Amino acid sequence: MTRTLAVWRPDPSHASSVDRELDELADVLHAVVNAGAGVSFVVPFSRSDARAFWSDTVLPGVFSGRRLVVVARLDGRIVGTVQLDLATPPNQPHRAEVVKLLVHPGARRLGLARALMVALEDAARAAGRTLLTLDTVTGGNAEALYASLGWVRVGVIPGYARGSTTEELDATTLFYKQVQTGEEAT
Ligand SMILES: CC(C)(COP(=O)(O)OP(=O)(O)OC[C@H]1O[C@@H](n2cnc3c(N)ncnc32)[C@H](O)[C@@H]1OP(=O)(O)O)[C@@H](O)C(=O)NCCC(=O)NCCS
Repeated sequence: MTRTLAVWRPDPSHASSVDRELDELADVLHAVVNAGAGVSFVVPFSRSDARAFWSDTVLPGVFSGRRLVVVARLDGRIVGTVQLDLATPPNQPHRAEVVKLLVHPGARRLGLARALMVALEDAARAAGRTLLTLDTVTGGNAEALYASLGWVRVGVIPGYARGSTTEELDATTLFYKQVQTGEEAT
């Protein structure tokens, strides 16, 4: 199986390939939400709900430069993704928020999330974003991943958000990571 990681660069002059990739991204989000993850959405969550998120929120953000999306492909098909929200206030031009780290349930434990986070950090560095922040469900599988990648755990907010398939409120853990730009590293 061939694995590739890349910043997602949808080409508006190739509408059919953008459509196909939006379908693949929608499949990932739909599967992840319906498998119970706490990633903003709750069930019932249809495939068209998932597609609308990518086409109406993410795609315009990518085109305007407010969002940066990294995708992981297996044999050419997108099965994982993570985003950087670059739309920070004017006094935080050096910061970005990591959101929506998603790996399709059929492609898990292959190291894709780890590879996505490493690629995202490289992309953040290239975009001049040196302070990255995120929050994740306390005790969830992603928490150990972030800690192992050198993210600093700030603390826990109890009762922050519900999971997608239960009404119970879960705590969230806040993390940050400072990354060096190429200029600082040399
Ligand atoms: C969390 C998630 C992104 C991990 O994706 P993945 O590609 O399977 O993860 P990887 O194979 O790269 O594993 C990276 C690390 O995550 C942790 N991890 C991932 N899945 C795990 C599991 N089922 N149990 C325990 N730890 C797990 C481990 O620390 C792992 O490192 P290791 O392989 O050295 O033990 C995926 O399970 C997912 O999409 N979950 C739902 C959405 C979500 O919670 N996203 C995070 C939002 S902040």
